[in-house]
Amino acid sequence: MSSEEHGDQLDQNLATNRELHVAEHTVMGAEPGAMHPSPRAATLLQHSPYQPPPGFDAVQPATHRASTVLFANVAAMRARDWRRKTGYTYGLHGTPTTFTLEARLAEIEGAKHALLCPSGLSAIALVNLALLQQGDAVMLPTNVYNPSRDMAEKLLSGWGIALQVYDPMDLAATHAAITPRTRLLWLEAPGSVTMEMPDLRALVAMARQHGLVTALDNTWGAGLAIKPFALDVDISMQALTKYQSGGADMLMGAVLTRDDALHDKLLDAHMRLGFGVSGDDASLVLRGLHSLHLRYHAHDQAARCVATWLQSRPEVQALLHPAFPGSPGHAHWVRDCSAAAGLFSFTFQPQITAARVEACVDALRLFKIGYSWGGPVSLAVPYDVAAMRGASWAYASPLVRLSIGLEDPLDLIADLDHAMQVLLD
Ligand SMILES: Cc1ncc(COP(=O)(O)O)c(C=O)c1O
Repeated sequence: MSSEEHGDQLDQNLATNRELHVAEHTVMGAEPGAMHPSPRAATLLQHSPYQPPPGFDAVQPATHRASTVLFANVAAMRARDWRRKTGYTYGLHGTPTTFTLEARLAEIEGAKHALLCPSGLSAIALVNLALLQQGDAVMLPTNVYNPSRDMAEKLLSGWGIALQVYDPMDLAATHAAITPRTRLLWLEAPGSVTMEMPDLRALVAMARQHGLVTALDNTWGAGLAIKPFALDVDISMQALTKYQSGGADMLMGAVLTRDDALHDKLLDAHMRLGFGVSGDDASLVLRGLHSLHLRYHAHDQAARCVATWLQSRPEVQALLHPAFPGSPGHAHWVRDCSAAAGLFSFTFQPQITAARVEACVDALRLFKIGYSWGGPVSLAVPYDVAAMRGASWAYASPLVRLSIGLEDPLDLIADLDHAMQVLLD
């Protein structure tokens, strides 16, 4: 092809492209001509002039996916303030989808600010990294979510941040453990695995007296059963991975506050650590929130039904469920909580060996073996608490933690009943 022919061919292609382009957008109802008149296909694929008509509304907010956020001009780019949610600067700093989720989480808990993190554990890390410096000390309860303790022992300690482990059920000892270095008091209600419900009011008052910041891991409360800000807690952290998502298919965390200065510190650290979340994951949680209230109460009712049955069984030594009299801190649950999650533990009689307990868990059919909780399928996990806690743990036999899902509780009871037969063999 001569260069003249080549030029003609190019012109022809461009004309065809243009016609297609104009035709396409005329069909779709957009005004053509917003672009340079003759973009080539590769350009056109990146820069469509089509703008959907305004006015679309739906029950679910749109899923915005963005790393790059576009500005109308340089002045607009320079003027944009990423710290205030008045506009958008970069995907990490938020999109309409993540801002909507943050706002909804804050509304539920009565917070002013919320920050999303890629997991519950990263939300814990955000609080630690934002508030602690070399020379400081952080207090964690003995029954804390174990990876949180691991973070303090294996990471924070290497940066000169001391860990002080306190018994959340012993106020006098906790008080005595506070030192001038202590900056942050982590609370968990109830404690992971062993389910003690602490006296949050007394612990928060003590922390105030010593100028400590308080942070509650409120994953169990899911923003519904416990209102941390009504209890004067400074920071509420939640693993949205559990009840808020509800599907056992994603990971996310949130850090909520009412105090502007505290939020700004967390926000700075959030930006510096790059703790953004994807629009798709935020959409999953937004969808889960619609049924959160119903699901949470269904989990609660079913768990109490299963727990009541377990309590009547001769193989069971102790039921660890804060809504049941006799469970540690039950009076605090009555005073401070409006509901309970579908999570609880129980111990077997001391003569039942660990091997038998494991065989019993293996014999379950509806209950699956797996970590996490708050999902639709019930889960069972045996824990050797004595190995985790040492001599302070009162029970000789292993503990089993159950996360009650959305199955019919009578079927779950039948499953447990059947599995417990192996204890008789
Ligand atoms: C009490 C508690 N806090 C935090 C987390 C961490 O959440 P994630 O799994 O999203 O990191 C968990 C997870 O099991 C948990 O049980």
